[in-house]
Amino acid sequence: MNVYSEITSLKKRIKSFNKGITIGFVPTMGALHQGHLSLIKKAIKENDVVVVSIFVNPTQFDKKEDLENYPNTLDNDLLLLKAINCDIVFTPNAKEIYGKNEVSEDFNFDGLEFQMEGKFRKGHFNGVATIVKRLFEIVTPTNAYFGEKDFQQLQIIKKLVVKQNLNVTIIGCEIFRESDGLAMSSRNVRLSKTQRSAAPFIYKTLLKAKKIFGTKNADKVMNWVENEFKNHPILKLEYFEIADEKTLKPTKKVISGEKYRAFIAVFAGEIRLIDNISL
Ligand code: PAF
Repeated sequence: MNVYSEITSLKKRIKSFNKGITIGFVPTMGALHQGHLSLIKKAIKENDVVVVSIFVNPTQFDKKEDLENYPNTLDNDLLLLKAINCDIVFTPNAKEIYGKNEVSEDFNFDGLEFQMEGKFRKGHFNGVATIVKRLFEIVTPTNAYFGEKDFQQLQIIKKLVVKQNLNVTIIGCEIFRESDGLAMSSRNVRLSKTQRSAAPFIYKTLLKAKKIFGTKNADKVMNWVENEFKNHPILKLEYFEIADEKTLKPTKKVISGEKYRAFIAVFAGEIRLIDNISL
């Protein structure tokens, strides 16, 4: 496994590949868990060469504390990647990516960016799209892998590729869960013991919401979820939304033939957890 922190040396390596070689790419912000590893293993199966990037992208954080507290476990990450035979790891610093100009580009994603996470994390998706586009330019992947835990992010990346005419196939991968149902996230390591034992309530609520959905309309399911969290001693609901999978617009009434998904964001103290489920 080779680790590069400079763009020029990574590009040189990529240029050395024979024509026709498929490159699988998994962008990450490190603090790797089984969810990341499942994407990387899939990429290894489906491509000739696999590149993983580890870069905590400053421009996608709307809160300074969140950026500062983002877990950094680089040594362990590299051990995990080596153990599964990852080929190349890209670990740039912010200066290497942004130079002196740590700002994001302005994108238009036809409204996808204004829903849910977009409402609560200002500028987040401009930051994500800026770094993903930049990494695609550097890595030139054939296939790039993104987890469905960040479903809105996945839809926005797909839109980015279409709008900017990028030559890469985006592959969405199912959410990887702990045995008690909690969606895997790098932020989970920051949960206290009490918060960690409360957190599976999020997925349990999504499962129940899925059951109720279809027999009641979307509004009723939303009210039910809001009520479930109202008196919760540890978890605070930020939003619960039932949305059309393609447009991500909230749904009040269900139209047959359309695909819907329930989305949730919850605070456990300072730690923000998100999850979603297809309905
Ligand atoms: O999902 C993430 O970890 C990040 O948003 C990504 C795609 C690596 C961009 O920084």
